[in-house]
Amino acid sequence: MSELPKTYYVTTPIYYVNDAPHIGHAYTTTAGDVLTRWHRQRGEDVWYLTGVDEHGTKVQRAAEAGGVTPQQWVDRLVEESWRPVLDTIDAKNDDFIRTTQDRHMERVQKFWDVVRENGYVFSAPYEGPYCVGCEEFKFPADLVPGTGEFDGEMVCAIHGRPPEQLSEDNWFFQLSAFTQKLIDHYEANPNAIRPQSAYNEVISFLRGGLVDISMSRSSVKWGIPLSWDGSQVVYVWFDALLNYITATGYGSEPGTPEAELFAKVWPANVQLVGKDILRFHAVYWPAMLLAAGLQPPQQVFAHGWLLVGGEKMSKSKLTGISPDLIIDHFGSDAFRYYFMRAIAFGQDGSFSWEDMSARYTSELANGLGNLASRATAMVGKYFEGKLPVDSAPTTVEANIQTLLAETVANADACIDELDFAGAIGHVRAFIEHINGYVTEQEPWVLAKSEETHDRLASVLYTVCESLRAIAVLYNPVMPKAMQNMWVAIGAQEALGEIADQDLTEAGAWGQLPAGVAVTKGASLFPRLVEPEVENS
Ligand code: ME8
Ligand code: MG
Repeated sequence: MSELPKTYYVTTPIYYVNDAPHIGHAYTTTAGDVLTRWHRQRGEDVWYLTGVDEHGTKVQRAAEAGGVTPQQWVDRLVEESWRPVLDTIDAKNDDFIRTTQDRHMERVQKFWDVVRENGYVFSAPYEGPYCVGCEEFKFPADLVPGTGEFDGEMVCAIHGRPPEQLSEDNWFFQLSAFTQKLIDHYEANPNAIRPQSAYNEVISFLRGGLVDISMSRSSVKWGIPLSWDGSQVVYVWFDALLNYITATGYGSEPGTPEAELFAKVWPANVQLVGKDILRFHAVYWPAMLLAAGLQPPQQVFAHGWLLVGGEKMSKSKLTGISPDLIIDHFGSDAFRYYFMRAIAFGQDGSFSWEDMSARYTSELANGLGNLASRATAMVGKYFEGKLPVDSAPTTVEANIQTLLAETVANADACIDELDFAGAIGHVRAFIEHINGYVTEQEPWVLAKSEETHDRLASVLYTVCESLRAIAVLYNPVMPKAMQNMWVAIGAQEALGEIADQDLTEAGAWGQLPAGVAVTKGASLFPRLVEPEVENS
């Protein structure tokens, strides 16, 4: 065991750059960002990696269709679309890996040298079906009867198209050697695959027994050449999966900063994937790692799909919605909030403009936004913008303190399970409670008499101190709006940066000192301007 504290390491899949990102990709990256911001605010050392998968037949063909070289194709898309989308959704990743980078290519070759030296690589012919959409060698059980254009043929269950028949001399990875090792590993570590449905799916696949799998391609040019056979490139998945360790310094000289990073991050704490690529991450990937003498990740979490018309939103089917389209209208905070709150992480869900508008208005604008603007306005009006002393608290306020402590503990526990909707639900319930408290206490009535002045002070202190805690809890989800709220209640001045606030301490009452300047800033969640309806 290493002496250094373990860095909390979170990854997203690296996405194919055959086309621009859609909200499905933004969904995974947002979840990873919320998770890492949360852990950072627990005071943990965190590393968050995302990036792009640039090799393989799918990208090569997209480039050909676009009339440019694969390198030109990926360079343009990465700079114009894939990097910018991270800013659009306000993701704070620590690194961005491209599989065409030297650091990746060199370490991939090194990795397969090690696996070959360990005796798990051999040469053999491969013949069988291959789905370019999945970049995957298919088993008969993976195929389903086609419909429409492909009626009477067997097609890929995800892409709905018949696979291509491949016949090549390839190098193979001896995956079959790991069937029992993986079963043992997962039985000993039931949390290593989440949710439970994903765990069950993998275990039953493993119980069926693993067969050896081709790890190279001779007919593909756009890839990383094998170090021992320059006529073949590494099969794109066995190149791409390695990004999680090549980006963090696998194979670096001992004593270098890269080697130190690798020692701190590996094994990854959580690897987020969509359920479409569960088998790669929970079967092939840990087998590769074991073959190289490395530990499997601590957890692979397979989330559900964003659906369009009941089917997975996809680049190949051109059903993708651009994140810009939604964020231009609602802003990045609302985007992050909506997808984490409206869809249970691990289940499928659909995006609907109406649902998002409705939640924006009721939960964000009228719920939290209104609470903050009322409270700050009243401190301005009745106390000249200075947070009053909590001079006459009663049991009602004591109950709020208890409720807050519970809210923090419950939300934090939800994040351990990657239950984002649950965590947000606890904070939301607390906000509703405070809104109800304001309605009941009627501070505008308390303001009418000198006798109730102390009660007025307590009520407004309680609301602002509650907003202080809400800002800390929601900061990982909505960093921009919570920063504004933080400043408005005077917390920036009194307590420092919001991102430095310890989340687990957010429930400790009385952190916001009386006397701080409270200002009514700009509206946190401005009223939506409805898009113009086109006349037809
Ligand atoms: O599979 N709903 O890349 P990819 C939810 N390069 N998430 C979705 C989604 C949807 N409709 N569509 C895409 C690849 N995603 C490989 C991965 S990793 C070593 C290599 C998200 O561009 C989700 O995370 O097809 C899914 O697993 C991933 O994008 C697939 O992206
Ligand atoms: Mg895909």
